[in-house]
Amino acid sequence: MLASLSLLYVLLPFAIAGLVRASPIHDEQVREVLAGRDSSLRPLTLGRREAAGVQTRHLRPMEVMLKRDSITPPDVGQIANFDGQDPEPIRGDAGATFLSNSNHEIDAQNPDNVAAPTTDAGTVPNLKWSMSLSHTRLLKGGWVREQAITDLPPSKDIAAAELRLAPNAYRELHWHRVAEWGYILNGTGRISAIDDSGRSYIADIHGPTNGTDPDIYYFPPDVPHSIQALDEGLEILLIFSDGNFDATGTTFMLSDWLARTPLEIVAQNFGVNVSVLANIPQKDPYILESTVPPPPFGHAQDQAIQDPLGTVPSPYVFHLSDQEKKVGPGGWVKIQDSVTNFGVSSLIASALVYIEPNGMRELHWHTNDEWLYIISGTGRATAFAGSSSSRTFDFQPGDTAVFPTSYGHYMKNTSPTEPLIFLELFKASKYVDFSATQWLALMPTQVVADLLGIPNDIVETFKKEKQIIVA
Ligand SMILES: *[C@@H]1O[C@H](CO)[C@@H](O)[C@H](O)[C@H]1NC(C)=O
Ligand SMILES: *[C@@H]1O[C@H](CO)[C@@H](O)[C@H](O)[C@H]1NC(C)=O
Ligand SMILES: *[C@@H]1O[C@H](CO)[C@@H](O)[C@H](O)[C@H]1NC(C)=O
Repeated sequence: MLASLSLLYVLLPFAIAGLVRASPIHDEQVREVLAGRDSSLRPLTLGRREAAGVQTRHLRPMEVMLKRDSITPPDVGQIANFDGQDPEPIRGDAGATFLSNSNHEIDAQNPDNVAAPTTDAGTVPNLKWSMSLSHTRLLKGGWVREQAITDLPPSKDIAAAELRLAPNAYRELHWHRVAEWGYILNGTGRISAIDDSGRSYIADIHGPTNGTDPDIYYFPPDVPHSIQALDEGLEILLIFSDGNFDATGTTFMLSDWLARTPLEIVAQNFGVNVSVLANIPQKDPYILESTVPPPPFGHAQDQAIQDPLGTVPSPYVFHLSDQEKKVGPGGWVKIQDSVTNFGVSSLIASALVYIEPNGMRELHWHTNDEWLYIISGTGRATAFAGSSSSRTFDFQPGDTAVFPTSYGHYMKNTSPTEPLIFLELFKASKYVDFSATQWLALMPTQVVADLLGIPNDIVETFKKEKQIIVA
């Protein structure tokens, strides 16, 4: 290893400085060092070898070099296409190859970072975070990983977590200062809670099983709750109505509370002998396994405790499978908020969006920060920040993102074959958006024609109704 590295250090400066044209022999040695002994080092790509002054003509024909240009003219802002080769920061006449290392896997997932459309301008902060970059906390019975404001600083309204529970495992009894909203990514589970009047709630939740859309749920701030996986296990996307979710004391765990309270007080509180409490946990488990499997899916009522005060007036679970789709030319949405159909969810409004191959969520903006989560497929979006600033991002499953309040944006499905499915979340009681096309269609035609320099009869074709998703 040491020998390989020192050879690398001896040879690379010459190649990079371009002072010495490497002989085919040296070239071969560099390649071996970079390729062979240490898998974290990768061979110089054609472009980087060329830039480093390494003669390549004897290795590859000229046509291959020409393919390095990622754009087939005209450049109308299309996504750069590197034809399966390592992306290079080159677009048309602009840019140059990487002269040093880069993380080519990340580059390949983010061609709009490497060779952005020329329409991108100004300084727009990073607006995306992949859950795959989050630390995963492994526990007996599951795991959890989160995206908070420290990961994605522009997301001030919303933080998120992915939570996995093994079959029958519990997320222990707890409450938060903030609202919690959940989307069932897979599996089956059971939630239970009480409201501030002592009315109880228990219900089963399921992921996209049996070809149906999954359930979502909502717990208001401070409503104490627990979640148990059923026999398939459970994975949930959790949303919290505060980007700074990790601030001290945001989650209150019952077992943690009791462990931090004098035992005689706990005993007096519950009216039991102190000796009964000998085995209460001294540290909150966060996730724990069950000792007896619960009644199966669909049998939540078998576990319900008779509540003299009755059950909560407005259900905490919303069945997306019971909701009508709002269909557009290129896909559909299902929108949920407390004003329209999900009464209890007064702090979170949401939309499940399905975009057909090549379809696009139309140009629009919102009156709140939009937080996104990619469930499946691949997408591309440009965030317009006003003041001549915009930035384009590429998305994969498990990506979270935020479009701050008022930013104009779209979301395009970049796959010609796979649907793009994602969630839009807002810290709001009502889902609100403005459609650019609807706006222009409802303005005096001449106003739009004069501004955009397009004929009146074209402006008249603009749709007066929100299309939501265009084909
Ligand atoms: C749910 O999990 C099962 C078992 O691992 C898997 O076959 C299925 O594809 C998953 N469904 C989704 C929507 O991820
Ligand atoms: C899926 O269908 C099977 C067979 O009909 C049923 O037993 C199961 O409960 C269903 N699962 C959900 C989550 O509805
Ligand atoms: C509490 O339990 C202990 C051990 O079982 C017993 O010795 C004691 O008398 C009990 N105290 C009361 C007040 O019942």
